[in-house]
Amino acid sequence: MKISTPILHLFLVLGLTVSSTTSKCWYTDCQPNGGEFKGCNPSENAGISPLNCRGNRGTRGIQYYCCSSYSDGPSPTKNPAELVTFNQFKEALTKNGFKVPNQDQFNNFNRYALPLGGILDAEEAAMALAHIIHESDGLVRKREENKKGTMGITFTSMCRFPDQYYRGKGYIKLTGCNNYFIASEAIFGDFRLHENPLQVEVNDTVSWATSLYIWGERAHSLKDVQDGKFGASIKEINENECKSSNDPNAKRRFKIYTVVREAFGLPGMGDPSGCT
Ligand SMILES: *[C@@H]1O[C@H](CO)[C@@H](O)[C@H](O)[C@H]1NC(C)=O
Repeated sequence: MKISTPILHLFLVLGLTVSSTTSKCWYTDCQPNGGEFKGCNPSENAGISPLNCRGNRGTRGIQYYCCSSYSDGPSPTKNPAELVTFNQFKEALTKNGFKVPNQDQFNNFNRYALPLGGILDAEEAAMALAHIIHESDGLVRKREENKKGTMGITFTSMCRFPDQYYRGKGYIKLTGCNNYFIASEAIFGDFRLHENPLQVEVNDTVSWATSLYIWGERAHSLKDVQDGKFGASIKEINENECKSSNDPNAKRRFKIYTVVREAFGLPGMGDPSGCT
């Protein structure tokens, strides 16, 4: 993910607020590295000062700093106009052969499409949703397959948790410690995603926020994308798929996009160009 700050400017332009309310905080027990990742409980949020520790059998681990309440992150001062109706959103999934989405998923899509994704019209909404559907297999898979050996137990000055905790999560996958750090600060004005990366998978509001943030940071600002060239958004999100003109994943993304367009009442099958 590229590093830039236009999204922060967008907050200012739209008069969005990032409030912070913290209350009771505590350290967890020592959670061993390589064991089942627990972090804070899903209903709680991690603070910014985890400690390295040794468990009772001498194994290295981490004590997480948890707090019982944090801010909600950015919320639009007023609800942006719905880009699409629930029925159109539902048909985008079902006409593509996936199961009916729930109302919360629709609400979160609408809630973050503009403030985080920069999305102003149905065509760009269709592009973003097509990628989201493809990457999550119809809004069901929010965790990247376990790629053994690609991420180990390393700590850097910024990334005090093992890399494996920052594997791809969300609908469009947020991947890598650095990107958790940057996205968290941009979306919430604190480091909650960096300190408790599991939220990106288990908290659906956060999953949508990060996915649309990625769209907003990467694809939204490209001229070709604004000109309706869906292939340009494929290239930005997964360049590898544009190395051959016959990539099955790129083809699947475009096929999904065509159906989403139809569900959204947009004319034509869409423009696949830009993926070269
Ligand atoms: C999901 O995350 C948001 C933003 O951090 C938070 O306000 C909300 O309480 C979380 N929901 C749950 C169930 O943890």
